[in-house]
This record gives sequence, C-alpha cells and structure tokens, in this order.
Amino acid sequence: MAENKLKLEDLLGGFQRAEEDERIDYVAIIGGGLMGQGIAQTIGAAGLDALIVELDELKVEESKGLITENMEREIARWAMTQSEMKSILSRLKWTTDINDVVECDLIIEAVDENYDLKKSIFKQIDKIAQPNTIFISNTSTLSLTKIAEVTSRKDKIIGMHFLNPVPKVPLVELVRALDTSDKTVNIIKKFAAKIGKTAVEVYEYPGFVTTRAIVPLLNEAMHILLEGIATAKDIDTAMKLGYNFKMGPLEMADSMGLDEVLGWMETLWATLGEPRYRPSPILRKYVRERKLGKKTGEGFFKYDEDGKIIY
Ligand code: NAI
Repeated sequence: MAENKLKLEDLLGGFQRAEEDERIDYVAIIGGGLMGQGIAQTIGAAGLDALIVELDELKVEESKGLITENMEREIARWAMTQSEMKSILSRLKWTTDINDVVECDLIIEAVDENYDLKKSIFKQIDKIAQPNTIFISNTSTLSLTKIAEVTSRKDKIIGMHFLNPVPKVPLVELVRALDTSDKTVNIIKKFAAKIGKTAVEVYEYPGFVTTRAIVPLLNEAMHILLEGIATAKDIDTAMKLGYNFKMGPLEMADSMGLDEVLGWMETLWATLGEPRYRPSPILRKYVRERKLGKKTGEGFFKYDEDGKIIY
C-alpha cells in the first residue's frame, strides 16, 4: 500500500514537472515588423509577456511606435480601452541583443521571407536557447524542414502561420515539418488556444492552405488591372460586393505588403512550377519603386496616416 502511494506521488510529481517544462509565460519574437507587432500584441492581450528582437535602435523605435499607433486606432474605434493598451504595452519589451532570448520559454521567428536569413537566425538561437525551447517560424512559403536542418532540435521546430492582422484573425495554421514531434504539436496547440487562436494542422508544403489559395486570386486581380479591364477601385468593389469579401484583393495585397506577396509568389512559382503563381509584372514594378502598400503609404492605392485608402 505504502509502496503504491509512493508510486502515485512519483507519478503526480512527474506530471507536475512535465507541466512546468511546458509552461509558456515569456515568448521571444524575432522581427518586430508587421507580423511581429501583431503577434506581440496578441500575446500581450492574452496575459503573457513578450520580448521583441529587432536589428537596431531605429527599428526598435519604429516597431514600438507602430504597435502603439495600431492600438490607438483601435481605441479611437472603441474596440479597445486605454487601460487594455497600457496593460499590453507593460507586457512587451524590445531588445537589439538576440542573446536575451535565453530567458524565453518559446521563440517565434518573424523576419523577412528569406531562407538564408531565417536559417542564420535558427542557427544562432539554437546555440543560445535552453535545450527544451521550441522554435516557431511564421514563414508563409519556406520549408521548415530545411530551416530545421541547421539546428540540433529538429523535433522542436514547428510553423505557426499567423495571418495579418494577427490580433483580428482568429486562425493560425500549425505547420508540421518532417521531424516535428507530436509533443511539440500538442504544446503549441495549447499555446494557440491560450492566445485565442483556432489552429488547423497542415503538413509542410509551399504556401500551406491559406497562402496557396489566396496568391492566385491576388495575382489574377493584378493581371486584370494590368490588362486595363477595370480600375483598382472597381476590381476591389466588384470582389467585395460580388463575393461578400471584407476586403478587395488589391487592398488585401497592399495590407500584406507587396514585397512579402512577391516573395511568396516567387517561392510558389519556383517550387510548384505553376504559371498561376508567376508574379504579375505590375507587382514587380511597384516593389521596384518601393511602393509596398499600406506600410509605405502607397501600393495599388494611396493611404492616409490612419491606413485608410485615399480615393
Ligand atoms: P516585415 O518586413 O514587416 O518585418 C520583418 C522584420 O524583421 C523587419 O522589421 C526587420 O527589421 C526584422 N529583421 C530582419 N532581420 C532581422 C534580424 N536579424 N533580427 C531581428 N529582426 C530582423 O515582414 P512581415 O510582413 O512582418 O513578415 C514576416 C514573416 O511573416 C515573413 O516570413 C512572412 O512571409 C510571414 N507572414 C507575413 C504575412 C503578411 O501578411 N505580411 C502573413 C503571414 C506570414
């Protein structure tokens, strides 16, 4: 009997230790751009702390400024209170020193869509982070299996493909790479639920579900514009009213960032070889001109300081 009790206590202690191992209270986000800001705000709103790593002080200030502006816009729309914003900001910290991620329970990478950059970051954090820490990438199109190869923890690499604007989109795609373990998937499923997202599990494949399905539509809208069939405004109005879309495809591309959209198309075109992913020349033209959409104030449309289209 005494022996059985001991075993039960051992078992319970074991569960407790396992739960402590899996606790996620402090999350590092590498890259404080459009997606990094949205992920940070979402994590802060869920009552967890986040550390955002950026390249330099200028980028840190830009990231802080934009996340604050975004929440101020929500307050102006009565969608958030001052005290909610204060509480979220009090949970966020910024740094330019990647070594600080050592203190975090989970690391989310959200830098530009570029293999070499992502690989160099995963290689670096593999040396810095605790051995049990799970690494997440927010990549839209790149292979996590290839990114995982540069680490010594292939079972702890997983994709969490958040969509823009992260605080408002309730979905996240959980992307399994070749060696991602079931334990990692389960921990991250719980984390997704904790930050208010519904997770769909997808296997690694260029573009997963959401990017792969939306890219041809965005590309087609760009071809229609280039061929002079309708104006940008009319293309978007047609799709909004005709198919009950909240946002037209050209405004959607602008809000995603035209450089990011071009990057996704190039990867899908190169990996799947289907002409429907070949980027429209008008997209390349805008990116060359650094008209990157909402984030630069101009893309297919022009935007005011509040991010509203100026017609
Ligand atoms: P972004 O260009 O707005 O932000 C990237 C940020 O990473 C920049 O602020 C840059 O300074 C920072 N950065 C670059 N190198 C760094 C380094 N070594 N250390 C720390 N920070 C560094 O790009 P965005 O749109 O936020 O995209 C990030 C990732 O999320 C990409 O992989 C993209 O494919 C993915 N994604 C983007 C979506 C969108 O709608 N824009 C939707 C879903 C995923």
